[in-house]
Amino acid sequence: MEKIKFELSEKFSPIKLPDNLGFGKFFTNHVFEMDYTPEKGWHNPTIKTLENLIMHPATMFLHYGQGIFEGLKAFKTDAGDVVIFRAEKHIERLNNSARRICIPEVDPRFMLQALTELVSIEKDWIPTKHGESLYIRPFIFGSDPFLGVKPSSNYKLLIVLSPVGAYYPEGFKPVKILAQDDYVRAVRKGLGACKTPANYAASLLASEEARKKEFTQVLWLDGIEQKYIEEVGTMNIFIVFKNEIATPKLNGSILPGVTRDSVIQILKDWNMNVTERLISIDEVVTEYKAGNLVGVFGTGTAAIISSVGLLNYKGLEMELNHGEPGELDLKLFEELTSIHYGKIEDKHHWLTHVSTKEVEV
Ligand code: COI
Repeated sequence: MEKIKFELSEKFSPIKLPDNLGFGKFFTNHVFEMDYTPEKGWHNPTIKTLENLIMHPATMFLHYGQGIFEGLKAFKTDAGDVVIFRAEKHIERLNNSARRICIPEVDPRFMLQALTELVSIEKDWIPTKHGESLYIRPFIFGSDPFLGVKPSSNYKLLIVLSPVGAYYPEGFKPVKILAQDDYVRAVRKGLGACKTPANYAASLLASEEARKKEFTQVLWLDGIEQKYIEEVGTMNIFIVFKNEIATPKLNGSILPGVTRDSVIQILKDWNMNVTERLISIDEVVTEYKAGNLVGVFGTGTAAIISSVGLLNYKGLEMELNHGEPGELDLKLFEELTSIHYGKIEDKHHWLTHVSTKEVEV
């Protein structure tokens, strides 16, 4: 693979950011970009000034949606080091998504280098408040100008960076979720496990309808029987029963969340009874009525750990922990963020340390 070219702007310092960053509103000054052609493979890797893309109106991605993305986070630790959380796992998922929709894979080692070089250049943008981070968004799309359904021949890969705080408008307060069966997000053997824009487009109408009823998100049920819980679209879901913490098993229609995987590992480290299995919505309702439902929380890179304060299914309002964050959710949030900010040992080697040597412009 070629060496990364640097076409850096003189603008390194971050703009003055507000106290409440929200999510996905601000972008750093530089992007990583590279191209794919059948002749040259992935080539021309460049870190350059962020600018608008110029695209042919018939760019295939715009019409047929052949695109994938990832979301990962960089943190500044208490000791001042810059780290990326579970970079290799995200790169592996990027390549899994790529295979599913006929996009050429990227060399994982090179991708890791691209991520770390870009984050290193933009290190001054990494916010340091608890719960804040630099969100990293790599994405790839089919770039041929062509009308007709087939895989594109040429592709572009970009990485943009965004300093972020809490994903939901509630901040880190519990969210209200509507389990509904008017629409489905994905079906087994479809695209549900692939991080592709189609899954997010599929969720919009249901999410808007839920938002009008003052719910933050939708809990998706399986696409065939609408009987089993799947995920929240912006996060995976965990149900805390009295003697078990259960999460839907990965069946091909659920996104294999990296935070989901990390939480399962942490719960195992704590010797807790965590299971991946089919969970029907009826079971959740029955256990709630029997007083055996301790709580519900979501996991995601953007959301980190998000407590569910209210779950509604067919009009039954299941209030959890009196609308306050659950004890386990707080403990998990604390554990994960303590790993992020280097407050405790990274015993599973989840952090990639980014060299922050100064770059010559
Ligand atoms: C993430 O958690 O990184 C995602 O991509 C979810 C998206 C809703 C921001």
